[in-house]
Amino acid sequence: MSFHVAATAYDRFMGRFSRPLSTEFADWLDLRDGQKALDVGCGPGALTEVLADRLGAASVTGVDPSEPFVDAARERLPGVTVVQASAESLPFDDGVFDRTVAQLVVHFMADPPAALREMNRVTRERGVVAVNVWDFEGGRAPQSMFFTALLSVVPDADDEVGRAGARRGELAALLRDAGCRDVEEAELAVTVTSPSFDEWWEPYTLGVGPAGAQLAKLGEDARSEVRERCRELLGDGPIHTPATAWAAKGTR
Ligand SMILES: C[S@@+](CC[C@H](N)C(=O)[O-])C[C@H]1O[C@@H](n2cnc3c(N)ncnc32)[C@H](O)[C@@H]1O
Repeated sequence: MSFHVAATAYDRFMGRFSRPLSTEFADWLDLRDGQKALDVGCGPGALTEVLADRLGAASVTGVDPSEPFVDAARERLPGVTVVQASAESLPFDDGVFDRTVAQLVVHFMADPPAALREMNRVTRERGVVAVNVWDFEGGRAPQSMFFTALLSVVPDADDEVGRAGARRGELAALLRDAGCRDVEEAELAVTVTSPSFDEWWEPYTLGVGPAGAQLAKLGEDARSEVRERCRELLGDGPIHTPATAWAAKGTR
């Protein structure tokens, strides 16, 4: 699994984007005192931390299949309940949570329709199910420039464009199919600045996610070619990386 990696490597690769995205997403969720929230695919806890800040740690539960991420989330967020589990089989009763959310997870789920039905099931009536995924199809993911370079060297590389939720309207359709009502879609945008090209590149060498895993499998020459192609596209820095996620929310 490309997420069986150290939480600190995840922080450097995707956490630098998912932390600011968490704030944007949480602002959109109409969170109120007294609500209970479930963060599905919580990773090391970027969104979980924002939920805990706003609702109180005891009101927040996280689940993730990755053992190192579950360990890190438990250590970082005392008071939050963190369980090792997958979205397709959530170990909770029906109707327990007011907000059931998954940030940057749908495109990694083994069975997105089944997982979203599960998220809907554990949400109380009139509660909210909400998800987001980077706009890979529109070339607006943090990794989009990297994938342009990778595809020029490895034409059949996985650029995540074909994954669930990676295009306009798809997350909303998944939520409707899962049984949610009054589904709304939005775009959430963040920008992350890397002071130099080397600081932009280094996280890709940590083996995290499909980008890092595919780079790690290449021979040294091909890896250098991808790096040089990225440098041609981006320059020496500072590098500003704008990224936009599709978000959808619906009522149980
Ligand atoms: C890009 S990370 C997002 C982590 C976190 N939500 C964040 O915003 O930083 C994707 C996460 O989805 C988890 N994941 C992968 N497949 C999953 C599944 N079937 N159910 C739940 N989580 C899953 C991975 O272990 C990983 O932690």
